[in-house]
Amino acid sequence: MTTADTSAVTRATPAIGSTLVIGATGTTGSRTVARLTAAGHAVKAASRKGTPVAGAEPVRFDWYDPGTHAAALDGVDRVHVIPPVGDPDPAAVVLPFLRRARAVGVRRAVLLSASSIPKGGPAVGQVHQALPGIFDEWAVLRPSWFMQNFTGGHLHARSIRADGVIRTAAGTGRVGFVDADDIAAVAAHALTDVQAANTDLVLTGPEALSHDDIAAIVTEVTGRPVVHRPLPYEELRDRLAALMPEEFAEMLAGMDRAIAEGAEDRVTDSVRRVTGRPARGFRAVAERELRPGR
Ligand SMILES: NC(=O)c1ccc[n+]([C@@H]2O[C@H](COP(=O)([O-])OP(=O)(O)OC[C@H]3O[C@@H](n4cnc5c(N)ncnc54)[C@H](OP(=O)(O)O)[C@@H]3O)[C@@H](O)[C@H]2O)c1
Repeated sequence: MTTADTSAVTRATPAIGSTLVIGATGTTGSRTVARLTAAGHAVKAASRKGTPVAGAEPVRFDWYDPGTHAAALDGVDRVHVIPPVGDPDPAAVVLPFLRRARAVGVRRAVLLSASSIPKGGPAVGQVHQALPGIFDEWAVLRPSWFMQNFTGGHLHARSIRADGVIRTAAGTGRVGFVDADDIAAVAAHALTDVQAANTDLVLTGPEALSHDDIAAIVTEVTGRPVVHRPLPYEELRDRLAALMPEEFAEMLAGMDRAIAEGAEDRVTDSVRRVTGRPARGFRAVAERELRPGR
């Protein structure tokens, strides 16, 4: 985080209580914890094992074990909600937790959803719909696809490393890929700014790129050839179904098909509006996270 970023968060914030970050060991949660603690905020970092996260108080939390919820909420007045990943009906566990959180004094909740899921839509769209009825202070972050899908532990990053291939059913469709660090920067503001956003924010990078564009940039930055191999929807679905439940494989392949049809071909200025600085582009992120010997 730059000095300017840190002071922007600090300046806007009078003394506030502790923030519970759920999913604190994950791609966005770990970055959100880092930003909050760097700005001097008290953070409880929740994960199933209570894994230590630098600068934060670790706490054990499992969506499916309500016995872990009271201790996680103790002393907390705001919550960053990363719903249970891969659950087709997250509202069934998230909404009872949020009502309990409100009852014990939590006053702000910031939910991580996705650009592809509107309010009232499937899965986390149901949590989005209910959130303003539970909290007076809230925000829903709806990021586009993460740039870290090509640099971290995601399937694309693994197939890039294994055989230099990105397989999608997205064809030549373009996506406003976003840096997870920018998502975290927006999350830190949404959690701690005096004025709650009380809206949803579609988060993208500065440009919409195809997977061919991504492959070309990864090739340039790493010096290793990487290609995008577009597959028919059915072939991708069947490949994914070998790795995960069929319903989830269908959903992911369907999201690729939507990309091919142009559903993610957009950019927003939400990162700049909230953080005061422009969103990072994929080349900069690839240089930061993939450049050999960085
Ligand atoms: N990848 C993308 O392109 C993309 C785009 C838009 C939106 N999204 C959304 O982003 C979300 C995932 O966020 P992320 O990538 O930051 O997370 P992530 O890296 O997938 O990590 C998941 C986090 O949740 C925790 N977790 C897993 N199961 C849990 C459980 N039962 N109870 C409590 N915590 C649990 C994990 O911690 P432990 O394993 O340590 O417990 C980890 O900290 C998904 O909802 C996805 O829809 C992703």
